[in-house]
Amino acid sequence: MKKKLLFAALALGASAALALTGCSSERGGGSGSGSDSGSETAEASGFDAGATIGVALPDKTSENWVLAGKLFEDGLKEAGFAADVQYAPASNTVAEQQNQIQAMVTAGAKVIVIGAKDGKQLSTQVEAAHDAGAIVIAYDRLIENTEAVDYYVAFDNFKVGQLQGQALLDGLESRSDHDAPYNVELFSGSPDDANSKVFFDGAMDVLQPKIDDGTLVVASGQTEITQTATEGWKAENAQRRMDSLLTSTYGSENLDGVLSPNDTLARAILTSTEQAGKPLPVVTGQDSEVESVKSIMAGKQYSTINKDTSLLVEQTVKMIQQAQQGEEVDVNDTEQYDNGVKVVPAYLLDPVIVTKENAAEAYQNVPSLLEVVNAAR
Ligand code: BGC
Repeated sequence: MKKKLLFAALALGASAALALTGCSSERGGGSGSGSDSGSETAEASGFDAGATIGVALPDKTSENWVLAGKLFEDGLKEAGFAADVQYAPASNTVAEQQNQIQAMVTAGAKVIVIGAKDGKQLSTQVEAAHDAGAIVIAYDRLIENTEAVDYYVAFDNFKVGQLQGQALLDGLESRSDHDAPYNVELFSGSPDDANSKVFFDGAMDVLQPKIDDGTLVVASGQTEITQTATEGWKAENAQRRMDSLLTSTYGSENLDGVLSPNDTLARAILTSTEQAGKPLPVVTGQDSEVESVKSIMAGKQYSTINKDTSLLVEQTVKMIQQAQQGEEVDVNDTEQYDNGVKVVPAYLLDPVIVTKENAAEAYQNVPSLLEVVNAAR
């Protein structure tokens, strides 16, 4: 069922490429039968070993994005490429990112890696990239509604959501001073980020049955993603919504738990409840940001997710190297990420849930966070 993911010939490095054509290893691909109508026989190709690789990242809404830029600079350089890493600035980021990608195309980048600011607004630019013969890799966030995305590389976003949902349930059971029903509120990420819905769907996969059977009560009644969204992944927007939920719904009621899609928002939610003089609810998170790991060790935030950015960047660089050599690019999922017009072949990494209990083990390969954990013990 899985298509062979070989690139149309670009004429460069053809002999090395041809030598490698036969040694592809297929991964994943699911259990479906039947055959895709896609090209099974496209010629392999490569490109110059020292080619320019463009990396267009969104604004720095969480620490993972800050880290990614530096890791791409170093990793691509080490692999012998010329790196052009750009961030969209915090204001006017969609237009800015569109311009940056267009400039990378014009400058002749052979691969453009994109952490989309708004995954629905990049079709013109990625199509221009394709027309110029460049390969487009969607990094962390999917690019939607265009054929011109070759690969997606990310942590398994649905699983992130499921882990968050399960952590909320576990935290409620272990931390609450009463049995179910528990009052909870739900937060989701920015509507312009394709991940937000996947995180939320994953969490609701675990939480909805518990809402249905009465274990959880969303006292505000706000369970639709349009009601729970946090524009721009901005802390101040989450804090404002939490402030208003506390006023409107939790005057005399207790709030036991909050589903938060990431650490930045988790801290804003905790700040809001603290300022309102309420007992701290069980709050989930994601990204393993230093301040959140400290908060977890101090018994405040309940959980986060370890999505080791260095592993994600490493995997992306590996895919670029495979493309450069004209090899088949390794993917392990060809089913989940339908961007509206095609299922984008993906390489998904495994996220890890982190609570105070397993932090030392979870960060055993992340020295900077292990230090935070050990300092708190
Ligand atoms: C990333 C998360 C991050 C969020 C806000 C998402 O696309 O997957 O890790 O917390 O963006 O920056």
